[in-house]
Amino acid sequence: MPGTQSLLGLDIGTTKVAAVIGTRGPEVRILGAASVPSSGIRRGTVVDVAGTTRAVQEAVTKAQRMAGVELNSAWVGVTGQHVSCLNSRGEVQLARANREITWNDVERVMAASVSVVSIPPDRQMIHAVSRGFIVDDEPRVANPVGLSANRLAVETHVVTASRNLIDNVVRCVDQAGLGVAELVAEPLATADAVLSKDEEDLGVLLVDIGGGTTDLALFAEGSVAYTGAIPAAGSNVTHDLAVALGITHPQAEQIKLVHGCAQVDMVPDEQMIAIPRDEEDRSVSRRFIAEVVQARVQEIFRLVGQEMQRLGTVWPPPGGAVLTGGGSLLTAVNATAQEVLGCRVRLGRPRVASGPVHVLESPALATGVGLVYYAHRESEARRAEPSPSVRVMPVLARVMTWVRDLFSS
Ligand SMILES: Nc1ncnc2c1ncn2[C@@H]1O[C@H](COP(=O)(O)OP(=O)(O)OP(=O)(O)O)[C@@H](O)[C@H]1O
Ligand SMILES: [Mg+2]
Repeated sequence: MPGTQSLLGLDIGTTKVAAVIGTRGPEVRILGAASVPSSGIRRGTVVDVAGTTRAVQEAVTKAQRMAGVELNSAWVGVTGQHVSCLNSRGEVQLARANREITWNDVERVMAASVSVVSIPPDRQMIHAVSRGFIVDDEPRVANPVGLSANRLAVETHVVTASRNLIDNVVRCVDQAGLGVAELVAEPLATADAVLSKDEEDLGVLLVDIGGGTTDLALFAEGSVAYTGAIPAAGSNVTHDLAVALGITHPQAEQIKLVHGCAQVDMVPDEQMIAIPRDEEDRSVSRRFIAEVVQARVQEIFRLVGQEMQRLGTVWPPPGGAVLTGGGSLLTAVNATAQEVLGCRVRLGRPRVASGPVHVLESPALATGVGLVYYAHRESEARRAEPSPSVRVMPVLARVMTWVRDLFSS
């Protein structure tokens, strides 16, 4: 199968680099995936170009071997606290009264909504997402093309990121011998793999608990209202255990994976765990481990709650919260989330229609799989009839290009 028929998603995470390959076409089929430990990333930010480049090369090579295809560009996830968002609004008058709205008007109103956003020179816009059109006084119109109106407005969700930090990610991908098809804010990609359309319509918070950051995406009325990240996640839990038990990070990680629990009450009093130390073997109660873990997990969700409070959003969203990412594998993390956030919580794994399911259903691969879904949706949208119901529009310059292409075709 030629590589042009396939899509590569690249999630350069704090603990691992994941490469996922899927097919283009009416349905996404996942052909291959690989995940290798990353060492050059701290909280979503590249701190070692050579190390990250090696991890990217290794992950992509393994995924390509599994998929039996070679690709020369990737849809690359961008994450970290430097990714931020704001909601904007644009409005245009339609030249003649009661005229039919065309794609040209959609293009103009999107441009108007973005032009009012001032972006400092050290930041770059990575998405302008249409959240819904307002046709005269009618809100939440998904596709205004063909309707008659005097005024057309749009609510737009704009995602920006640090230019330098993006450049560093692009450099690693470039040095690994790949082009960047597009940069994608990771929470948006993850949402594609994990959330249902019903949840997004109802209103839901996606919480991707990674190694270095906990990525958030809040959906309301079917569209994204907020994307962001909390600078605390699974590695903080590991670190706390290392300090509390006086052991190394790799030892603490192992204990967390095997014995960690985010609810002290779920752990019987008497259970003791052997702690490896240099000279003597000690043991510690599993309850003590759970106390350390629970305290940090509570703290992470408190920060999530504070972020929602800062937004002034109505809490909780009717669809509750969906946890994913490797950190969501921690025993009882959902119970603690429910307690702290005060809402319904479910664990989310990436949907995989076909492919090597056992690998792909891991929540740690939600972003990688989501990048393929995202890439598929965007590529199909650009090939199909113009439709502003496309949920996420890429950077405006590119919106202009592809909208124009579609018009002239
Ligand atoms: N079974 C498990 N129990 C508890 N924690 C787990 C388990 N499996 C993985 N984790 C934790 O998940 C975290 C890694 O998750 P993930 O792979 O989603 O992160 P990442 O994408 O590399 O990081 P980030 O998204 O922050 O850049 C680590 O802290 C790891 O300890
Ligand atoms: Mg991640």
